[in-house]
Amino acid sequence: MSVHKEVKRITTHILQEMKQRGEKIAMLTAYDYSMATIVDAAGIDVILVGDSASNVMAGHETTLPITLDQMIYHASSVVRAIKRALVVVDLPFGSYQGNSKEALASAIRIMKESGAHAVKIEGGLEIAESVSRILTAGIPVMGHLGLTPQSIYKFGTYTVRAKEEAEARKLVEDALKLQELGCFSIVLEKIPATLAKKVSDQLTIPTIGIGAGQHCDGQVLVIHDMLGLNKGFRPRFLRQYASLYDVMNDAIQGYISDVKAKDFPSEKEQY
Ligand code: KIV
Repeated sequence: MSVHKEVKRITTHILQEMKQRGEKIAMLTAYDYSMATIVDAAGIDVILVGDSASNVMAGHETTLPITLDQMIYHASSVVRAIKRALVVVDLPFGSYQGNSKEALASAIRIMKESGAHAVKIEGGLEIAESVSRILTAGIPVMGHLGLTPQSIYKFGTYTVRAKEEAEARKLVEDALKLQELGCFSIVLEKIPATLAKKVSDQLTIPTIGIGAGQHCDGQVLVIHDMLGLNKGFRPRFLRQYASLYDVMNDAIQGYISDVKAKDFPSEKEQY
């Protein structure tokens, strides 16, 4: 008799239930098949195919250059790897700001061509019409407030957002609006922990924080950062769980010296 292990897939409804019972949501980014296989098998709840791919995969300084086609390529590679996690994909800069029709067309392309389960979109009231239109098509939407990296040239820096009263008030209004429209969750990036707590307490949908403190309903990190693949990027909010840059560097240097010393391949490693 074969024992078939059923894997219960994470859905937006399950995330909602997790918030209700106070169970934290763990989310990480992934951009390719091999990494997503490991992240999913480890038991992550949500995989974000973030436009941070523009930085960590393509080496751009900002998230602005990545295209919709490139996001779809990354997302489809991730979707082929996963058995359990919910896969959320960023709508990249320039794919939704024009008008809500364009936003819907971009979201549909992501869902159709990658097989992902939801999209994420940066902004509040300004993009309400787009969020609404995407939701009307049955596509789950995750919001993103606080530090929104696609607006880096408006902000001028990557420092903490909404420290001032007026910006904090707008953020709360935006969060409530996104919930009212039907978003299933909201990422809160780099805002004071007290503000993130206020928003998380007011909302019935889960908040996912990055640099937003311990009161969010879940946390997200960029996988390259938490695995220590990026040497030198150590913001205060980042907990680094491994130093893979060093591990890989040692392995590669070992390989180089074995090849140079004619130690690899040995007789046992040839045909
Ligand atoms: O693109 C990304 O990785 C993100 C996270 C930082 C939330 O949006």
